Amino acid sequence: MNTKNNITWDTRELRNALGSFGTGVTVVTSGNAQSRLVGVTANSFSSVSLEPPIVLWSLVSTSPSLKVFDESGRFVINVLALQQIDLSKQFSRPLEDKFAGVDYSIGLGGLPVIHNCVATFECKTIQRTVVGDHVLFLGQVENYFFEKKTPLLFCQGNYMQVAEALRNN
Ligand SMILES: Cc1cc2nc3c(=O)[nH]c(=O)nc-3n(C[C@H](O)[C@H](O)[C@H](O)COP(=O)(O)O)c2cc1C
Repeated sequence: MNTKNNITWDTRELRNALGSFGTGVTVVTSGNAQSRLVGVTANSFSSVSLEPPIVLWSLVSTSPSLKVFDESGRFVINVLALQQIDLSKQFSRPLEDKFAGVDYSIGLGGLPVIHNCVATFECKTIQRTVVGDHVLFLGQVENYFFEKKTPLLFCQGNYMQVAEALRNN
């Protein structure tokens, strides 16, 4: 429960309201010196700055993956394609080995880069701040690549796909 204008309202309702904002879907990956790989489905990703190139995402503070993101000081934003909906589901579950059956290679800093994504941003963490119940990561993009593919979308608690483009005027 929380309060809005001194009225109590429930967190589920707030979550539903926030979920009206449609996003893409990413799997944010990292790895530490002990070669422990982590990956978390996240739609909190956003671009922040072009010069220098900076992006952000946030991770719930109770995540068992947090330690590895902190230790490595790096993360990779893997923007999922429509065909990768199963990866989104796989990385949003607390599995022992989230990378089982996943095609990936090792990129900058020894971090896993998932194959066949729409876009990939290899980042160095430049700021880490606890904000409420999440940890906010800001990262400088050190390398990126992308392909013209259809992205996976998420809105109102459902996976979605791009419909036809609307005319701008
Ligand atoms: C579409 C979607 C978006 C999500 N976005 C986030 C996010 O931005 N941050 C977060 O902490 N969890 C997010 N989650 C939940 C995590 O993926 C889930 O809690 C996962 O188990 C976290 O991995 P962990 O168990 O290794 O912490 C999202 C889940 C889905 C399905």
